[in-house]
Amino acid sequence: VARAACTKGLRRKLLAFPRILATLVGSGVVLFAVLVVALRSALFFRCLAAVFLLAVVAEAWRSRPSYGRGRRLPPGSLALAPAGPWVDPDFLAKQARRHGPVFKMSNFTQPMVAIVDMELGRELLRRHDGSLAVPPLPFQRFVPGGFVRYLGPGPHRVRSAELRTAFSDDVVAAAEPCLAGLVSDGLAELVVREEAPPSVALERTVLRGFAHLFFGLDPRSERCDGLLRQMRTIDYRRAWRNPASSVRRAVTAASSLILAEPAAGFLGKVAAAQLGVAVKPEVLVNLLYVFNTASADVAGLMGWILKRLADNPDWLERTRATHDPSAAAERIVRETLRLSQSEYLARYATADLDIGDYVIPKGYLVRVCIREIHRRADVFPDPMRFDPDRFLPPGPGAGAYAPLGASRISCHGEGISIAFGRLLALELARAYTIKVLADGPDEMGPFHWQPNDRWRVRLTPR
Ligand code: HEM
Repeated sequence: VARAACTKGLRRKLLAFPRILATLVGSGVVLFAVLVVALRSALFFRCLAAVFLLAVVAEAWRSRPSYGRGRRLPPGSLALAPAGPWVDPDFLAKQARRHGPVFKMSNFTQPMVAIVDMELGRELLRRHDGSLAVPPLPFQRFVPGGFVRYLGPGPHRVRSAELRTAFSDDVVAAAEPCLAGLVSDGLAELVVREEAPPSVALERTVLRGFAHLFFGLDPRSERCDGLLRQMRTIDYRRAWRNPASSVRRAVTAASSLILAEPAAGFLGKVAAAQLGVAVKPEVLVNLLYVFNTASADVAGLMGWILKRLADNPDWLERTRATHDPSAAAERIVRETLRLSQSEYLARYATADLDIGDYVIPKGYLVRVCIREIHRRADVFPDPMRFDPDRFLPPGPGAGAYAPLGASRISCHGEGISIAFGRLLALELARAYTIKVLADGPDEMGPFHWQPNDRWRVRLTPR
């Protein structure tokens, strides 16, 4: 456990989950206190040593890959707190090579079944929809009526349909000139601040673009600055810094700021669909949290697009040279999503579930490993090569490629993600050459793999 807790990836994750962090620290303190007391009594010390020894033997027994075969558990080790998932980007792929496409492991301390096969994953999600819940992030408590992705099948259908009216392609198309200006400004900032991590400028670009798309705000206005200040408190990745009372205040302040002017952007679409009735707080706060979670995803995607193009500069030239740069840029986004940013679909089993010859026991986490499925050599030849032309028509089908969901819950943001990524790839190809100044192995962030903290690039205007 100590070894896993020393990894940067797990530390980042624990900062997003302060309660788990508090439980771990609390358990450590209790353990230390028990040890101190035990040192005062030889008998107590021996008893404690015996308990520890038994625990170590039980843990070794449970860690055997064949543990639970009689109960039809999949193969794989349930060793507590493996460090591999936090330090080795190929950990899950290696487990799949060793044990097959369905295997068990521990997600820190929770037992989990991982699936590295699209067909099996889709079938499981479809057949057992009612017995597979999405593990909610702690921000769920701030959303009246619940966050859309975490709702059970019935309420989910209603809320998801309500929100889908918001994310309209017309709003995205009308916003494109504004988004293109923001991308161009973001890259100009990268030119002069090459010592800063590229993610800083890219995240700012995405947040301002989202303020415009979601609520029709002028991205260079005071109102936009005000909203983004509240979003920093609302941000689910900063949970350890922001107590619940300040998050609630920020949600109220952001809602008042947005509702102070006539609804526009995606919110305008919701208001129009409700024919003059005030937008419900359930919908507004859901929009705020989709803003928050999806802006983190899109900013991550932008970072990966920059990295892939920096590592494969021939694709900048090919995009410039082709008769349809926009289509080439879209393929770059889809290939980036194949390799990075979209990593898994997470669920937990609320009943015992069958998967092929195996059983997933009630209470286990379930992870459909999208990232590893997208890197299977039998589906994508030479899988680690960055090759956007894999997405020339007809492209891989939904049976091989699903970066935006593979169940009843499917992403509402495909058009938005593609628009941001396409504008970035086009602007890089049109206006810059890229040189990598520093790099290192990919690192685990709070939720996803991300480029190394040391990674820096130099953009030179052409
Ligand atoms: C790189 C960008 C993105 C990635 C990789 C991504 C990925 C995903 C995935 C995999 C799911 C399904 C999750 C599951 O089955 O548990 C999902 C759901 C969702 N995404 Fe995205 N997404 C991205 C961008 C966006 C954007 C820009 C929006 C903004 C509208 C958005 C809104 C949503 C919503 C609302 C859901 C839940 C849908 C529902 O419950 O019916 N996403 N996303």
